[in-house]
Amino acid sequence: MKTTGNTIFISGGSAGIGLAIAKKFNEVGNKIIINGRSEERLQSALKQLDNAIAIQGDLSVKADRLKIAEELKNNHPTLNIIINNAGAAFMNNLSDSNNNSAEKAFEEINTNYISVIDFTALTLPQLLQQEEAAIVNVSSIAVFRSNKYLPTYSASKAALHSYTQGLRDTFAENENLGVYELYPPLVNTEFSAEIGGANGIPASEVADELFDALGKDQFEVPVGDTKKIHELVIPITENVPH
Ligand SMILES: NC(=O)c1ccc[n+]([C@@H]2O[C@H](COP(=O)([O-])OP(=O)(O)OC[C@H]3O[C@@H](n4cnc5c(N)ncnc54)[C@H](OP(=O)(O)O)[C@@H]3O)[C@@H](O)[C@H]2O)c1
Repeated sequence: MKTTGNTIFISGGSAGIGLAIAKKFNEVGNKIIINGRSEERLQSALKQLDNAIAIQGDLSVKADRLKIAEELKNNHPTLNIIINNAGAAFMNNLSDSNNNSAEKAFEEINTNYISVIDFTALTLPQLLQQEEAAIVNVSSIAVFRSNKYLPTYSASKAALHSYTQGLRDTFAENENLGVYELYPPLVNTEFSAEIGGANGIPASEVADELFDALGKDQFEVPVGDTKKIHELVIPITENVPH
């Protein structure tokens, strides 16, 4: 699809990967709408962008999702790309019964999965009116293999991955709408600091890969180390009847 002249909503666009994507698409001529919970972080991000606006709101909250979708419909009728990037993750030690594992898992599944399904459904009618549109879901290398540090986060991203495949199949015959999945490996952001994110790749590399993939209508977007595992797994699963 075209990589300029789009109107792009980026959830969690005030920091990390979302902000890097905002910068990349902004500098080549796209209108950017960033979102996040903290107004202060949004204002600081806006200073780094031209032709961008912010819509504050917590996407894990139904009322905020409704408010944001309504604002997009009424004030930004040209919206044609949504990037579902905001995420929640907790270190979750499953061997500790006092760890509130289920509460952490609930928040992860709500933010990383349920909220994405709902927000996508809310914005879909608007996207379907456009000549070219895209939905980009930001999953993770963790969809392919969980671990003891982020077991419930990995499960929530695996759910997002599965939903994204189903969403793509749903719109397989629609030439105007592409469903993309972006799979970052470890990326150096605030989000990953607790799990050694300083050793990760820069967020700008993730943004560059997404930019190139959109231009080529390449719906599967593995980045960095994810490419190795993606190369092994996806050709097999694509051969399974679906
Ligand atoms: N960093 C990694 O190593 C890595 C690897 C694989 C996948 N990912 C995925 O990439 C995505 C972005 O991660 P990141 O590393 O860029 O995180 P980050 O640096 O912590 O940035 C997160 C952004 O999301 C916003 N946000 C968080 N919860 C939100 C909510 N409920 N509603 C609206 N905005 C919200 C934050 O702003 P506020 O706090 O102000 O809301 C911020 O703008 C996540 O989905 C994550 O799972 C990250």
